[in-house]
Amino acid sequence: MTRDIRQVSLPVRDMPTSWYNIIPDLPEPLSAPEGDMSAMGKVMIKECLDQEFSSENWIEIPEELQAIYQQIGRPRPLFRAANLEKLLDTPAEMYYKAEGLFSPTGSHKINTAIAQAYYGKRQGLERLVTETGAGQWGTALSCAARITGLEATVYWVRAVYKWKEARRDFMKLYGAEVFASPSGNTETGRKLLNEDAEHPGSLAIAISEGLEDALLDNKAAYVLGSVLNHVLLHQTIIGLECRKQLESIDRYPDVVVSCLGGGSNFGGIALPFLGDVLKSGRKTRFVAAQTEAAPNLQGEYRYDNADYSGITPRLKMYTLGHQKDMPPVFGDGLRYHGCSPILSLLRNKGYIETVAYPIDEKRVFESARTFLSEEGFLPAPESAYSVAAAIDEAEACKESGERKVILFNVSGHGFMDMEGYKRVLHL
Ligand SMILES: Cc1ncc(COP(=O)(O)O)c(C=O)c1O
Repeated sequence: MTRDIRQVSLPVRDMPTSWYNIIPDLPEPLSAPEGDMSAMGKVMIKECLDQEFSSENWIEIPEELQAIYQQIGRPRPLFRAANLEKLLDTPAEMYYKAEGLFSPTGSHKINTAIAQAYYGKRQGLERLVTETGAGQWGTALSCAARITGLEATVYWVRAVYKWKEARRDFMKLYGAEVFASPSGNTETGRKLLNEDAEHPGSLAIAISEGLEDALLDNKAAYVLGSVLNHVLLHQTIIGLECRKQLESIDRYPDVVVSCLGGGSNFGGIALPFLGDVLKSGRKTRFVAAQTEAAPNLQGEYRYDNADYSGITPRLKMYTLGHQKDMPPVFGDGLRYHGCSPILSLLRNKGYIETVAYPIDEKRVFESARTFLSEEGFLPAPESAYSVAAAIDEAEACKESGERKVILFNVSGHGFMDMEGYKRVLHL
């Protein structure tokens, strides 16, 4: 195919109407969470809790929610990175899903935020409480809460809260209350602040704080932006759209590449294709791009808590340990100790490869600059990891002469992340 096709759109009438649940297709049953489920049973949205353990292959997206999906820019375009291919002089074809620019809050996170808020409102809740790392999830949840008529409270990892002032204001504009985590609001936060008044925080700490907060309010639910099965389920809309878009130009990916923190972005684009591999024996490869600050897929495969204080039950996952100190990076949405149980199982069975990029982030930000120079779009720091890994794959194709189809997700735009670009690339 010539490089003339640059954009593959999907008509609204072809937007997927169900999410794909891979659980029944997994090579072995998912290990059940261990320990006390009472806190989660109390603070989770009921519909999401049901979806968490569903054995149905397809879960229908309610019609009202399908309409909101349209409102927030779905279906989203798939682009061919033809200029980038040319620059790299690769025989590979590089396609990327644009989840960043076509989302009101700047990333894929809105896909599950809006679903969770929708179910929360239907249940009669008044407030949603959450954690955020990059701030993308916090903004998505703030937006989703606002447009469904709920309040939002966000505990934001302090290391990032400090440098993303514009995103903080963006969340406040949606009416959310936003706290730097560790905060003085909770026992977990106060203890850590006593030890270090400038504690940088972590996603695990922010989750503990949010859970403590939500547990004290019976009109509130705690919502997670990654890791859990139902979050990945909602994100499968990304991969389902990509599959239809590639089909329409007679393509199927040989490699699916994306960044991975807790796994919602990677799972979102990869799970529909992983399902195909499991069911039909296709040979597609899956590569997760991580930071050396938190290479959780290189950790141990065992039971561990999802939060710092051990309020959540223990999940069977690849983990670095729930109280592990991990140095802050600009792509801080990737700095999480554990990986989603579904993706961990698939990694353990050999279906997912991983690469971790150095903490100075020069390599990934340089890749993002190359992408921007050729394609024009500015990736979020986390998405820069997807771009770097896609470029590595395309360069390997140049070496081997293989005409592979590479699919990756630019999960967010970087309009509010310029400070990161400035500091790493010395602008
Ligand atoms: C733009 C973007 N992409 C990817 C991620 C990675 O998170 P996850 O692996 O949960 O999708 C984040 C997390 O904050 C993000 O903000």
